[in-house]
Formats: sequence, structure tokens, C-alpha cells
Amino acid sequence: MLIKRFERKEELACHAAELILNEVAERPDAVLGLATGSTPIGIYEKMVERYRRGGISFRNVTTFNLDEYVGLPATHEQSYARYMIGQLFGHTDFDPTRTHIPNGMAADLTAECAAYDALLRKHPVDLQLLGLGHNGHIGFNEPDHALIGGTHVVDLKPATRAANARFFNNPSEVPTQAITMGIGSILKAKAILLVVTGADKADIVRESLAGPITTACPASLLQTHANVTVLLDRDAGRKLTDVIDNELLAHNQC
Ligand code: GLP
Repeated sequence: MLIKRFERKEELACHAAELILNEVAERPDAVLGLATGSTPIGIYEKMVERYRRGGISFRNVTTFNLDEYVGLPATHEQSYARYMIGQLFGHTDFDPTRTHIPNGMAADLTAECAAYDALLRKHPVDLQLLGLGHNGHIGFNEPDHALIGGTHVVDLKPATRAANARFFNNPSEVPTQAITMGIGSILKAKAILLVVTGADKADIVRESLAGPITTACPASLLQTHANVTVLLDRDAGRKLTDVIDNELLAHNQC
């Protein structure tokens, strides 16, 4: 696991975008696993900026988003489908027929999960972008006694609903369930890029990356993957200084 810590989250975003863009430049038909939440926003901004400068195209890239709320239509302003259009897809040439997000409005959610897994088997993910929840969740794989490998419906923990309430008008509007790619599918990606910012995540960063591997902290399973790069800002990495490879790496090309 390669862990890099940046002085500012803008530098982290710049570096993460560069890693993703390098993947696309090397492999124009790359399969990207994409994440939502507040952390990737700066990364998507940098990707859009780079696209606007020219010389890069996403039209042959296939994407799979990690998760989607159950019960929110794609048009809902807090759906992850809408987020992806607002942050990335709507400003670039991603082909809508190649961008995949679980449908949280599917009449048969079990069939939707199976169909998503079938697509993932057909298009193995080259590079999976991940954020980190405060309780160690990745995608919406919540801490539990056991974790599920494939795409599935999950009951969101009260802490996760509370953390995401800031995006909704009223905390009661936060959906109680989501569809998420499972831990097994996430770990099948050839390479994983975990991005975490903020002092409020310093403890869970340490627990995930330097603590025991346990289903009580789903992100700790990333320790079992052979190709993980972790990008932290100064605050998120402040409890990991003993194990970090590159301390406060400045990124001059921002
Ligand atoms: C959400 C998403 C995750 C995301 C996490 C952290 O619940 N399902 O994919 O990584 O929360 O979000 P944020 O980056 O806003 O802290």
C-alpha cells in the first residue's frame, strides 16, 4: 500500500485526477470505478478542467459507480446519478451508454443487483476510486459481523444517515437504504485509489490502514489488496505519520 500525504486537499485532488487521467491516456477504453460524496468533488473538477484544455477524451471509458440511494429517482438532486452528471459526466464527453450507476428505483432490487454484478463481470474495473465513511464504510458497505461480496441492498447505519443529512433539506429525507457494490467487487479492481481529507477522519484512517483487518471496519480489508494507493491531506493523515511514505508531498503542477 502506497500512502501519500499532501499539505492541501487541492494538491491531493490534483494528484488523484492525474492518476485517473494517466490511466485513461494509457488505456482510452479503461474501466473506472467511481465514487460520490464530498471528497471526490475536487478531483472531478480537475478532470473537467483538464478535459476542457483538450487532448483527452472519455468517450470510450466505461464507468461503474459504487452506490446509489434506494428510492431516489435519478432526477432527485441528492441522487448519485444527478451528482455524477453535475460533477463530471455533464461537463465531459463520457458516453452515457457506458456510465453505470445502480438504479435505486428498480422495481426488483435483487434483479438490479444481479444485473450490476453481471456487467461488472463483463467489464472488470481497472481503477477504483474510493472515499471513506467516518465508520470505515467504503461504498455503502457498513461495518457488520459479516460483509457481502457482490452488489446488494444495505440498510444505512444511523451514523451514515446523519453524516449525509447535510446534503438534504431535512434529516428525515435521507433514504434508509442504498444499493452498493460489495466488498468482493471492490477488491476485484486491478488498482484502488482511496482518497480521504479532513481531521474528522484521522482516527478512522489510522484504524483502516494500520489497524486490524476486520469487518467492523470495512476499509481495513483494503489492506489485503496488492495495488492500493492512498492519498490523504495533512489533517486526515495526522495520526499515521509513523507509516507514511511521502510526508507532505507538494504537487507543483496544480
Ligand atoms: C458516502 C458514500 C461513500 C463516501 C462516503 C464519504 O456515504 N456512499 O462512497 O465515500 O460517504 O463521503 P464524504 O466524502 O462526503 O465524506
